[in-house]
Amino acid sequence: MKNTLIAPSMLSADFSNLKRDIEMINSSNADLFHLDIMDGVFVPNISYGFPVIKSIAKYAQKPLDAHLMIVNPDRYIEEFCKIGVEYLSVHIEACTHLHRTLQNISSFGVKAGVAINPHTSVSSLEEIIDFAHFILVMSVNPGFGGQSFIETSYRKIDQIKELITKRGLSVLIEVDGGVNKENAPLLIDSGADILVAGNSVFGSNDPLVAINQLKGYI
Ligand code: DX5
Ligand code: ZN
Repeated sequence: MKNTLIAPSMLSADFSNLKRDIEMINSSNADLFHLDIMDGVFVPNISYGFPVIKSIAKYAQKPLDAHLMIVNPDRYIEEFCKIGVEYLSVHIEACTHLHRTLQNISSFGVKAGVAINPHTSVSSLEEIIDFAHFILVMSVNPGFGGQSFIETSYRKIDQIKELITKRGLSVLIEVDGGVNKENAPLLIDSGADILVAGNSVFGSNDPLVAINQLKGYI
């Protein structure tokens, strides 16, 4: 069976008990820490910045996966890479010179991801997918945790998978938004390699069990 990576989104963590929540993820079967960075311009919300990211990095014992929902992400790529993130995604809708941006991320030895909003079609990936390590499919409109999964995302994942196979690439597909134990098996079947989960993990009575359900262990 394929090992799907689970990336709990720290946006849904309890920030007054951040260390406790980091340690919970450390002790769980989750694979990555998903960090949502929002600037209040690209998305209608502001999340958290470097002081918080550095605190998470200090205690996290699993790789960090930073998702930049900001305009002009190029300004901060070096700083994210130097903090030691392993995965770094930027939005196709926010980058004028996306090829250059991906090259910059990759030059630090960091996995470069292209995130696409729900309205962005798979055809817009055709000229860039060969240069990405992963594609992040937004399955809600970015900006907030706890929203409902957009059902047409399955079709999009299928199309991306087809493109990856046709080109013989090893690009991973990450799905972000409204992921829960009901849709996780369907997303894995469609070709998802990484599942981000905020509310379905941190809003659960037992986050460790919720992570195991997403992993398909129970
Ligand atoms: C939304 C973020 C997501 C969000 C997911 O803009 O990119 O990572 O935290 O949260 P849930 O799983 O609650 O939809
Ligand atoms: Zn995200």
